[in-house]
Amino acid sequence: MTTASLSGRKVLLIVGGGIAAYKALELVRLLKKSGAEVMSLLTPAGAEFVTPMSLAALTGHPVRQALFMPEDETAMGHIELSRWADLVVVAPATAGLIAKAANGLADDLASTTLLATDKKVLLAPAMNVRMWLHPAVQANVARLKGFDGFHGVAVVGPDEGEMACGEFGPGRMAEPAAILAAIQGLLAGPDGRPLAGRRAVVTAGPTFEPIDPVRGLTNRSSGKQGYAIATALAELGAEVTLVSGPVALDAPVGLNRIWVESAREMQAEVQKHLPADIAVMSAAVADWRVDGVASGKIKKAPGGPPSLALIENPDILAGVSKPGKSRPKLVIGFAAETSDLEANARAKLSRKGCDWIVGNDVSDDVFGADGNAVTLFTKDGGADVWPRQSKTEVARKLAARIADHFKA
Ligand code: CTP
Repeated sequence: MTTASLSGRKVLLIVGGGIAAYKALELVRLLKKSGAEVMSLLTPAGAEFVTPMSLAALTGHPVRQALFMPEDETAMGHIELSRWADLVVVAPATAGLIAKAANGLADDLASTTLLATDKKVLLAPAMNVRMWLHPAVQANVARLKGFDGFHGVAVVGPDEGEMACGEFGPGRMAEPAAILAAIQGLLAGPDGRPLAGRRAVVTAGPTFEPIDPVRGLTNRSSGKQGYAIATALAELGAEVTLVSGPVALDAPVGLNRIWVESAREMQAEVQKHLPADIAVMSAAVADWRVDGVASGKIKKAPGGPPSLALIENPDILAGVSKPGKSRPKLVIGFAAETSDLEANARAKLSRKGCDWIVGNDVSDDVFGADGNAVTLFTKDGGADVWPRQSKTEVARKLAARIADHFKA
């Protein structure tokens, strides 16, 4: 059995209704002992077997029990809770909960949370042997396992043995120690943190190029996509340095954010944090800066507006992509285009010398928005179209692709 620490990892435990619910309490104890933070959600049927008081005492957090509870929603909304977790565990997972999850039903707190989460779900089924062997349950489990994508469903157990109802066969919930081992495998093992030990440098946001002490040149980048990428890489275990231009976003937890203003400052910080395994240059770097920044505020003059002489900024991405000892193994650029996405993105990829480029159509509601539609072009000619989805989802897809790249 693996003994990996779960320190700092967050588990949301959904306790369904069944005699095995008492084992969920032992599971919480084991999770806490290995360093995990646990929040729990108790279904009405689950509450027939264990009390909210026991779960609250063991987890150290209030227990969520119903969908429409204003006081719960003010603490942490159920959607937020489903995202807060690194892993959602359902133990015991009843036939009813599995059926709801497999069919996208969302008519109570547990099923809604399972549908809303963007994290992997681990099911520990527990039910009567006939129920477990019923083709409907087997089909539901197979359906859940078959859902494609990064956030899959894993199943631990059920075990074979004598059941509380007196029958014998598969259906007993896996022992808490086995569920803990499965959780450790998913969270601390290569599956959960495939980028552990990898260093990444990510640029995000706009740059600001001063004209004088009060004015400057900048652009409409919000930094949301770059921040989401930095977060997604950190979630997969990478050690991330986020070099950020001026944006109105909080620093994501668990990574090192460095504030910069100008392109030259951004370049210096990026270079300082090499070598790295991964570089994702998502910042909207200003192409030009003002030559001869005025030391005092430029005043309006009778002769009309001043003319600004511009000089070209260094190309940070092209610099990072240059062959050499400190070149990251995987360099990814962005191509923000308003037309001819593929041709422009591919031209940029070869001009800058990066390995992949994320082609970003910015002609339609991208700046500051939460959604994005991109195509990932690779040096070997590949193109992966990701239709409009949240910037978080785009980031997670990219992080998963990066993890696959290093696995290969
Ligand atoms: N980039 C950079 N340094 C610059 C300009 C751009 O690192 N001085 C990076 C961006 O972070 C992005 C990629 O290069 O990853 C492409 O940026 P983009 O603005 O689309 O391309 P430009 O080179 O500026 O080309 P153009 O403005 O002509 O489209």
